[in-house]
Amino acid sequence: MPQVENPQLGRSHDYPYEPREEERDYHWGMVVNTNRCINCNTCSFACKSTWTSGKGEEYMWWMNVETEPYGGYPMGWDMRLLDDLDSGQTIYEAAESGEQVRGYIADKEEWEYPALGDDQVHGEYPTGEVVESDLDEGEYHDIWQFYLPRLCNHCKNPACLAACPRQAIYKREEDGIVLLDQERCRGYRRCVKGCPYHKPMYNPETGVSEKPVGCYPRIEEGFVPRCVSSCIGKTRLHGNINRGPDAPSPGGDAPGGRSPINYLVHSDEKVALPLYPQFGTRPQVFYMPPYHVPPEFLTQMFTPNTDEKRNDWPGDTYRESIEIVQERVRNPSHHVLGILQLFGATTKLIETYEVTDERVRGWDRNGEKVADLPFEEELEVREGEQWTNQ
Ligand code: SF4
Ligand code: F3S
Repeated sequence: MPQVENPQLGRSHDYPYEPREEERDYHWGMVVNTNRCINCNTCSFACKSTWTSGKGEEYMWWMNVETEPYGGYPMGWDMRLLDDLDSGQTIYEAAESGEQVRGYIADKEEWEYPALGDDQVHGEYPTGEVVESDLDEGEYHDIWQFYLPRLCNHCKNPACLAACPRQAIYKREEDGIVLLDQERCRGYRRCVKGCPYHKPMYNPETGVSEKPVGCYPRIEEGFVPRCVSSCIGKTRLHGNINRGPDAPSPGGDAPGGRSPINYLVHSDEKVALPLYPQFGTRPQVFYMPPYHVPPEFLTQMFTPNTDEKRNDWPGDTYRESIEIVQERVRNPSHHVLGILQLFGATTKLIETYEVTDERVRGWDRNGEKVADLPFEEELEVREGEQWTNQ
């Protein structure tokens, strides 16, 4: 089987297709700050009302929010697959004979409860007692939970694509969005079984499968996906993950250099991490981890979680690297704080940006300025008589 480089694991591994051109100028990507998510599911309903409100799509939630550690749609999707993988194996290396990818088909019951585990905490909540919160440095609460928005990752080594014997799934040249051609699909459901994130879903009314489309019509027009623009918590920033430090100016007075999400994911100041990189698909949605959650849990969720350590991660162990990233998210640098201002600031795609002492600005793909914000909101005091509670 051909080998493919996987920078998220720091090694190469089996992948059923010849590696395609490694880096495009443009690739769909997203960063989600989990610390801002309040589980309102506005994103989930924005996605559903846009894409999956037809017949046979009743159970299709391309976008959903899970309460960690007990939520999961389908139920227990992550632990079930992790249990099947030998330590350090990707889903391609663990494939059973005659298959390209290790996966499983969730049964009907596992799909029936998208909100299972909502708001359930880890640890026992003492009734009638005050929960103490005076923790020493390096200690974490025993009782915790957090919200994890989940969507298709438009992976660089997509398992859905690798699994389909009809080659009905393809990756778009222009932006890396992974699409399913329903004309070619014959309903084999290998994609449903093979995607470790369980995002392709079968439509029993049409007899073919469907998968998330990355809101490509909006991307083509220069707008962010609906789950991003509708998010009231301003949890997300969408853009071109491949725009690195040497990229030229897109035009006008826009600076050259990285996109804001490329900075959060690929700069030395790494603050956003892929979800379960150990599966081997190179997901392109990255998460700023919750800083109140014990690092042991986050290590298995957001790092390769092996004994081998790469030199582009901070710290000597993956647990240490998670603690360092948590601290960077808790106390962001001026630069990261500036980029955080861009989350939810505009419905336009921000291609390039600048952070100064006072302001943060963003430009689109045409070099047009689409965001210009102060670090601190200006205070406006209204003239005239003020209302008082008398
Ligand atoms: Fe395919 Fe699943 Fe990756 Fe989306 S998350 S590109 S459906 S393997
Ligand atoms: Fe292929 Fe999935 Fe259709 S495996 S044939 S795209 S159901």
